[in-house]
Amino acid sequence: MARDIDALTAATLKHLRDRWWDEAFTSFVRVTLQPRAGNRILDVGCGTGTAEINISRLGLSQVDLCAVDLLYARVREALMATRARNMPVGFAAADACALPFRDGAFDSVFCVAVLQHVRDVSSALREFARVTKPGGRVLVVEPDNSARYWYSASEAGRRAFELGQRFFATLAQSRDDLTDPAVGPKLAGLFPLHGIQPLSVHLFPVSSTRLGAPPPAVWEARREAVRAAFAKAPDEAIRRLGADYVKLLDKYAREAADAGPSFVEIQNTMLFAAVGQKNEE
Ligand SMILES: C[S@@+](CC[C@H](N)C(=O)[O-])C[C@H]1O[C@@H](n2cnc3c(N)ncnc32)[C@H](O)[C@@H]1O
Repeated sequence: MARDIDALTAATLKHLRDRWWDEAFTSFVRVTLQPRAGNRILDVGCGTGTAEINISRLGLSQVDLCAVDLLYARVREALMATRARNMPVGFAAADACALPFRDGAFDSVFCVAVLQHVRDVSSALREFARVTKPGGRVLVVEPDNSARYWYSASEAGRRAFELGQRFFATLAQSRDDLTDPAVGPKLAGLFPLHGIQPLSVHLFPVSSTRLGAPPPAVWEARREAVRAAFAKAPDEAIRRLGADYVKLLDKYAREAADAGPSFVEIQNTMLFAAVGQKNEE
């Protein structure tokens, strides 16, 4: 369950990585970055190293791959994962908005599912352009977390989705979260402001369907995810909203069980991959 798409339990796509980092996406990244022997490629916001492991599997051994993440713990995990596979990747802890590299240090730069967490997207794009060589590729892939498709055959399921959206939005507001959940489709339009020529935008749909009432473990995972989110909520009103949400999830579970084999739930969201080229000087 934790790896399934679930708009009911998270404001972002964090549960989805295994689903969309598939072979097709990996080869899209490879084709887009046009790696040649000796090229230096930078992954900004590498997380636990999914990209590095997948890209290295494609046999890019002659490429000099570097990766950074804001969190040292993630960098460490990514380093251990690639070392265990004997993959030479250079890692560093660094902020996308202040990259510790000289101008034009990389032949291409990519960044996946990171700018949705960054307040100052312009600063990050400026940095991506700065560290990319003239003529080099910049690839940025982000979702639009504000535009999710959701269908449930159950009335409580439809209400749960709406309440969930409100719950996560209120939680974000209470944390003074100024990140842009809808950054994905905007990226190509921001490129020219930073000396990057937009080349193309590719859409990657991520969807899941459930037919028949989900097993109890699905409901328990959903309740747990919501409880974990509101346990840290700073005020009573949000905790109350969270508690109401859990109650609605219980009702949804009951309606789903009653519907049995006629239960249907469909979720879909979209990743937007903006491809650009750093302007020639
Ligand atoms: C959803 S994960 C994506 C990880 C990886 N790119 C992938 O696709 O598997 C987002 C990552 O962005 C990192 N991150 C968030 N803000 C960042 C920033 N300002 N600079 C660098 N990394 C950042 C987080 O620490 C996290 O590891």
